[in-house]
Amino acid sequence: MTLQVGQRVGHHPADERLNGRCALHAQTVAFAPVTVTEPLGFNPFDPAFRVDPYPTYRRLHAEDPVHKTPFGMLVLSRYRDCVAILRDPRTSSDASNSNMYKAFMAGRDPEEVFGALAGMRPFLFMDPPDHTRLRGLVQKAFTPKTVENLRPRIQELVDDLMAAALEQGSMEVIEDLAYPLPVRVITEMLGVPHEDHDTFKGWSKELAGALDPDFATPEDVAQRRESAAAAFVEYFQGLIAERRRTPRADLLSALIAAEDEGNKLSEKELLSTLILLLVAGHETTVNLIANGVLALARNPDQLKRLRDDPTLVRTAVEEVLRYDPPVQFTARVALDDIDIDGTMLGKGDQAIVLVAAANRDPEQFPDPDTFDVGRQENRHLAFGLGAHFCLGAPLARLEGQVALEALATRVDDLAIAVAQPEYKTNIVLRGLAALPVTFTARS
Ligand code: HEM
Repeated sequence: MTLQVGQRVGHHPADERLNGRCALHAQTVAFAPVTVTEPLGFNPFDPAFRVDPYPTYRRLHAEDPVHKTPFGMLVLSRYRDCVAILRDPRTSSDASNSNMYKAFMAGRDPEEVFGALAGMRPFLFMDPPDHTRLRGLVQKAFTPKTVENLRPRIQELVDDLMAAALEQGSMEVIEDLAYPLPVRVITEMLGVPHEDHDTFKGWSKELAGALDPDFATPEDVAQRRESAAAAFVEYFQGLIAERRRTPRADLLSALIAAEDEGNKLSEKELLSTLILLLVAGHETTVNLIANGVLALARNPDQLKRLRDDPTLVRTAVEEVLRYDPPVQFTARVALDDIDIDGTMLGKGDQAIVLVAAANRDPEQFPDPDTFDVGRQENRHLAFGLGAHFCLGAPLARLEGQVALEALATRVDDLAIAVAQPEYKTNIVLRGLAALPVTFTARS
């Protein structure tokens, strides 16, 4: 018997509804059918896998590091293979180059498939030259130096968010800290007026799920996501018009200026970039903070090390990113036949790049399953590699550092308040649905 990763378990007769919901879902098509034979036991929908996928990754390393599925996809788990494919100029991030996508879209109307977001593929899923041009326009806002200037504001937000929790000796890490922090930071950077934050928060929560191929998405969730996308586009069209009349010192005004400078950025590109910044920069950072709190709570010796020496916070955040990365895998399409360690990835076929497995590759990382907040030489792949290396990495790192340092240094007796916290059902993004913790505030 074979298991289909991406096989909808029990529901949804056709894949059309979810495959085409929005531009980000275009990538969903690319992820759909990875088939792995049962003996390997690789089934991302298995609740046990969700709780701990790492034993499966260990088996992939040992038994089948370049796993070929009957559909011609290759599942890569070794560090060196993941690095090679992410750097290979013969690959594409645009799922529409894949045989599977072409087969799926044949005879379909993109407007119908992609709804409000038709024609708005974000640059995460583009190749040069468009990728280079669009990425270049936003890059300036995310250099380590520009981002470092945000530190006092991020610190202030973390202090505010933690104030009530410190008094009561408990918090739900996601709701109280990990979720609101990145949303506030990115909305403030973009220049979304304060009074709109709550409305905006609702839409962004719906949209965040769009990055992930959640095959079990119920119809009502998919519909809410589509309405959120339409509302988001309409909202930003209004804000763009306003900023065009009266520019301010925010990222949105800077992008509009780029749009006005001729053909550098079309309105659709501007809108898709805004959505990308919100979606790519949001749920990921939530998971970084929550996965980090979980790892520290489960490794009290490492928490103590960090508390005793807060300068370790930089390596600690890198270690969380390696040990339990928010993005478990990405995908690439071969533009030519590519030989991966003796296995051929055919032109138009896709590689699933399991960065979370690469981060535990014993050939690259000594004691890969040990969580070590002082780990050196930690060249993990949590932010990807090459041309698409995460644009928001400096920001995510900073938010993670401020949040984890605050938690490590301001509380004692950090404990998880449930036996096993639940994970969201996503498979690309790995994150907890909730993380209730208790502690004693330090005086
Ligand atoms: C811990 C948090 C984060 C993680 C783990 C993460 C992970 C990633 C990964 C793995 C990629 C590359 C995907 C690929 O190569 O296919 C990526 C790309 C990207 N990320 Fe992040 N990300 C995080 C936070 C952020 C933040 C805070 C922002 C911005 C506000 C952001 C914006 C982007 C953008 C714009 C891209 C596309 C880059 C390109 O295509 O050139 N990310 N991210």
